[in-house]
Amino acid sequence: MSDDLGALLQRVPIALRGAAAYHVPKPAQIVAKLDANEFPYPLPASLRAALADVVKDIALERYPDPNCTALRAQLASDCNVAPNQIIFGNGSDELISIIVNALAAPRDTTRNAAICYPTPTFVFYRMAALARGIDTVEVPLDGNFEIDEAAMVAAITSQSPAVVFLAMPNNPTGTLWRQTFALELAAAFPSTLIVADEAYGAYSGPSLLPALASHPNLLIMRTLSKVGMAGLRLGYAIAAPAVAALLEKVRPPYNISALDQAAALFGLQHIAPWQQAMIDEVCAQRTHLATALAALPGVTVFASAANLLLIRVAAPSSAAAIWRALCDRGIVVRNFDTPGATALAGCLRITIGTPDENRLLLNALTELLA
Ligand SMILES: Cc1ncc(COP(=O)(O)O)c(C=O)c1O
Repeated sequence: MSDDLGALLQRVPIALRGAAAYHVPKPAQIVAKLDANEFPYPLPASLRAALADVVKDIALERYPDPNCTALRAQLASDCNVAPNQIIFGNGSDELISIIVNALAAPRDTTRNAAICYPTPTFVFYRMAALARGIDTVEVPLDGNFEIDEAAMVAAITSQSPAVVFLAMPNNPTGTLWRQTFALELAAAFPSTLIVADEAYGAYSGPSLLPALASHPNLLIMRTLSKVGMAGLRLGYAIAAPAVAALLEKVRPPYNISALDQAAALFGLQHIAPWQQAMIDEVCAQRTHLATALAALPGVTVFASAANLLLIRVAAPSSAAAIWRALCDRGIVVRNFDTPGATALAGCLRITIGTPDENRLLLNALTELLA
């Protein structure tokens, strides 16, 4: 088969032609998977058995409930919001696409509404826009990956984006920006949807959710991926009913499988005590690992409120070479030291693992940086 698109290429948006698909490297033997900000702990056997019991009778010959009725009711009660304020996505990745599809518009239409975000940040905001030919307004973070509030306000004022994405805490930096800044933006720019992406909120403390009632153009986005259920693919957004109703117009009707709905409901109802204990353990490991990494020669560790640590490795060591050497040992972290990298040059992102995984990583890095 030919490996180029041939005549189809002319149909591909220009912005997409040079873009690369999201690629996850997989060495043959993984001893520590610390590259995707997943939860490092599997569900205990007793909870697995109870979950198996729940999913065994699901009617696979039928489409799933398009409204996720039971899951919605549980989440509405947990979050103290009305059921019609919730929108579900196949991971929050899909929610990002849904938000972009509903609100932003390509340059060649009458509306021309861009999306805006600080950078570096989660890559999918950009990818979702690229796919639709939507402009992106990127506002660089400062040298410590803190947000440049004045530059954000100036960019929103001049470009009037339809949506602003703020990952709070941010990925890949781990930084938790001043949360009330999101509320100030929502108040100052009523025709822009401000998305507070709280994918890592479990590791950082209080949510902006209580502010939703007084900020109708604020949307809170969350996911089960970072707290033990990444395999499910369940993200949810909470917003004013009118915003939720708008997003529902472009949501694929059966986007949450019956298995996912049942397993997510089980998760919400039954795993919280175990999950919170493990989250606390990850936070303790984050403190321990940050201190140990900062003691290695030439390593800068950036402050993180997520289940990850971004480090920068100073020359003469090369982060890309260290990443490769870690891969050879079966330790996978995320390399941002790629050709052309600027803000993230020399940087590796390390997901906090179990104490054993973190020890393997530290031992390997100690050896490689000696
Ligand atoms: C900030 C942020 N938002 C959203 C996501 C997407 O999460 P998921 O699609 O697994 O729910 C990620 C994944 O890494 C993320 O880092």
